[in-house]
Amino acid sequence: MQIGTVSIDGPILAPMAGVTDLAFRTICAQMGAGLTVTEMVSSRALVYQDRKSQGLLKKTPSGPMAVQLFGNDPEVMSRAAVIAYERSGCEILDINMGCPVPKVAGNGDGSALMLDPDRAASIVEAMKKAVPIPITVKTRIGWDRGNINILSFAKTLESAGADALTIHGRTKTMQYSGLADWDIIGKTRKLLSIPVIANGDVFGPKEALSCKARTGCELLMIGRASFGNPWVFQQVAAALKGETVPELPALRKRMETAAEQFALSVVDKGEYIACLESRKYLSWYLHGVAYSGYYKEQISKIKTAEDVSAVIRGIQKDLR
Ligand SMILES: Cc1cc2nc3c(=O)[nH]c(=O)nc-3n(C[C@H](O)[C@H](O)[C@H](O)COP(=O)(O)O)c2cc1C
Repeated sequence: MQIGTVSIDGPILAPMAGVTDLAFRTICAQMGAGLTVTEMVSSRALVYQDRKSQGLLKKTPSGPMAVQLFGNDPEVMSRAAVIAYERSGCEILDINMGCPVPKVAGNGDGSALMLDPDRAASIVEAMKKAVPIPITVKTRIGWDRGNINILSFAKTLESAGADALTIHGRTKTMQYSGLADWDIIGKTRKLLSIPVIANGDVFGPKEALSCKARTGCELLMIGRASFGNPWVFQQVAAALKGETVPELPALRKRMETAAEQFALSVVDKGEYIACLESRKYLSWYLHGVAYSGYYKEQISKIKTAEDVSAVIRGIQKDLR
C-alpha cells in the first residue's frame, strides 16, 4: 500500500504517548510493522525549541516513520512540521485530531479539531505547503454519540490535501470504552479516494481479518495489542497475506526481546530513565504468564541495569 510516495508493507504501530519511543519503535519495525509513529509531539514546544520534545523526533532505524504533531494553530503547526521533518528525516507527518485527554482537547488540540473542521482543514493546507512529504491525519468518528461527523470531516480533510486518514472507531467521549465501530470506518473509506487506515480493537490476527473484511481497509493500525507483544505485527501481517500465522516465541525468547528493548532505551535515554520506564513495559511482557506475580513485583522495584538483567535471567530460569 502507498501513502503518497511512501510504501507501507505491514500493519502500522499506533502513536502512543509514553509507549512508542525510539526503542519500542525499533523493535516493532524489526517485527514487521510497516510504519511506526512517534509519540505525539507538541507543535508549540517544537517551535519554542523545547529539548524534551526534540528528543521525541529520533528516527526509527528501519522502515518508514511518521512523526505525529498536535496543536491547533496552522502557522505554528507548519513551522513545527518543518522542524520535525528536518530534524527527524521522517517519511510522513501525522496530525493528531483524536486525542481525548483534557490537557490536549481542552486547549483546542487533538479531538477538539473535530468540532472545528475549517481550522482542521487550514492546518492540513498549511502543513502541505511547508514540507514535501505526505501529511496524514489521525482522528476519531466524532466528539460524542450526538456528533458523529466522520463522513463530512473526512471529506473536508481530503479536500484540504490530506494524503491518508486513520480513523479510531470511537468517539472522543468514549475514550477507550465500548467497541470500535468498524462499519462507519468502512463507510468513510468508500467516500474517499485517499487511503483510510482502520484503528481500534485489532488485538491479533483474528480481529485483523474481521476488521479488514468489515472496513475494506488494507491498512490497519495496532495500538494496545503491541504492549509487550511486538510479535503481533508479524502475526497480523501473515494473516492479512493469507499465510500461516507464526506462533508466539517461547517466553525465553520473548525476554531476550525485552532485554533488547531495555538496551536500546539505555542508549536513547540513559540508565536512570530507562530503568524507571522499564518498570512499565517489562511487566507487559509477562501478560498471561502463569505464576509471574513475584517477578512483576521485582520489576516494580527496578533501579539499575543490573536489576533488569537479574529479573530477566530469573524469569527465563523460573517461568514458561
Ligand atoms: C497509552 C496510550 C497512549 C496513546 N497516545 C496517543 C498519541 O500520542 N496519539 C494518538 O493519536 N493516539 C494515541 N493513543 C491512541 C492509539 O493510537 C489508538 O488510537 C488507540 O489505542 C486504539 O487502538 P487499539 O485498540 O489498537 O489500542 C494512545 C493510546 C494509548 C493506550
